[in-house]
Order: sequence, then C-alpha cells, then structure tokens
Amino acid sequence: MNIILLGPPGAGKGTQARKLEEKYGMIQLSTGDMLRASIKKGEPLGLEAKGLMDQGSLVPDALIVSMIEARIDQPDCAKGFILDGFPRTVPQAQALDQMLSLKKKNLDAVIELKVDEAALIERVAGRFTCAKCGEGYHDTFKPTRIDGVCDVCGAKEFSRRSDDNAETMKIRLQAYRDQTAPILPYYEQKGMLKGLDGMAEMTFVFDQLCQLIDSL
Ligand code: AP5
Repeated sequence: MNIILLGPPGAGKGTQARKLEEKYGMIQLSTGDMLRASIKKGEPLGLEAKGLMDQGSLVPDALIVSMIEARIDQPDCAKGFILDGFPRTVPQAQALDQMLSLKKKNLDAVIELKVDEAALIERVAGRFTCAKCGEGYHDTFKPTRIDGVCDVCGAKEFSRRSDDNAETMKIRLQAYRDQTAPILPYYEQKGMLKGLDGMAEMTFVFDQLCQLIDSL
C-alpha cells in the first residue's frame, strides 16, 4: 500500500509515519529527513537545500522530484511507502502521478492531519530527537522516560532542528498555506483525500489512522 501523509509543519506526519512503518512494514519516505541527511554528508543537493530550509522556504521542485524518484526505485519500496513531506506543491503532486503511472504503482490514499496553528508552534518549539537512533521526542508531549536518556537506544545526545524556531516557523506556515494547501483540492477532486483530527493524543491519532488504512 502507498499513502501520502499531508499536513502543516508539526502536524505529526513523522511521528505517525514511523509508527505505521513499524506496524505495516511500509517504508517512511520523508523528504525533510533525506535533505537533512544530504546536508550532513555535505552533498551538493544538501548544500543547495540548506539555506532554503534554514529560512523556512521550500526547496525547488525539480531537486525534490528527482530525489524521491530515485528513492522510490529502491527495492525496499516494493513493500509500499508512506510519503511524509512530499508532495508539497501542485507540480510535485503532478510529477508524482506521472512517475507512479510510469512505474505502474498506485496511490491508495492521501491522509491529511488537521492541527490548529497555535498547537503547531508549540509542537515544533518542544521537539527534539535522539542524535543516535533518530527517535523523536517532545519536551511536554513525549518526554524521555529517564531524563536525558533515549528510551529506545539509551544514548544521551539529542539534537534540535535549526528551523524549529518561531521566526522560521512563520515562513514555513506561510509556505504551507500558499504552496502546499492547494494540493488538498487536487486530491479531493480525485476522491483520494481523507481527513483526520491531528489535535488528539498521539496514540489516538495512530488508532484512527490504522482504522482508516485497514478500511482501504
Ligand atoms: P520537513 O522535515 O518535512 O518538515 P515539516 O513538514 O515542516 O514537518 P515537520 O517534520 O516539522 O513536522 P511533522 O508533521 O513531521 O511533525 P512531527 O511528527 O515531528 O521539511 C523541512 C524543510 O525541508 C522544509 O521547510 C523545506 O525547506 C524542505 N522540504 C522538505 N520536503 C520538501 C518538499 N517536498 N518540497 C520542497 N521542500 C521540502 O511532530 C512534531 C512534534 O509534535 C514532535 O515533537 C512530536 O513528538 C509532537 N507531536 C506529534 N503528534 C502529536 C500529538 N498528536 N499531540 C502532541 N504532540 C504531538
């Protein structure tokens, strides 16, 4: 099964995609994580993307589309994938349709996580990640069980994203309103869009998502 998780920055796409990957074996394809990995490796793609990401703007469509196309071709994606953070513009959605049709793959659903803007700002401001295994946490909503120790791998180093600040978040939200929200009617017209209340507690959102996926 191949699905898209849509929603503004901080809506919970990454949190839910990792849980879905664990339960259903589909592969999480996060364009944000791919770009951050590319920056870490010092690749030309990462260097080109870094300034735009730090200021909260979108990376050009052509770079993103070729990056995701190469990833979808990897054998592990044959089990199905969860697109997290892609597509983010109508041209990206159109490019995805084209590439899936060429590869004879289908999209099964587009699921929108709906969250109020005030909650989004609180979510990104408190987000941190284990520097070793990448497990995601939140100062208030998902703290580590033992202070300063990752629940999953026991590491004691954590990182915070450079774009998770109030100033950049304003630009990221504006980019979502202007460039990403027009994707919603694009998929609605195709009868593929399903909405979920992303304001609920994380495990409740996950249960709702699983019910939706099981019904497809
Ligand atoms: P990206 O990495 O995709 O960031 P984003 O879309 O801004 O989304 P986030 O990762 O911030 O949020 P999320 O929805 O995954 O939330 P999470 O689950 O972590 O993109 C970064 C940048 O890369 C972009 O700005 C752009 O420059 C570039 N880029 C990436 N893709 C691109 C594309 N396709 N085209 C062009 N440019 C692209 O949750 C957030 C926090 O809230 C966590 O701490 C979590 O614990 C907590 N939380 C989650 N769910 C709940 C809940 N239900 N209740 C309470 N807390 C919750």
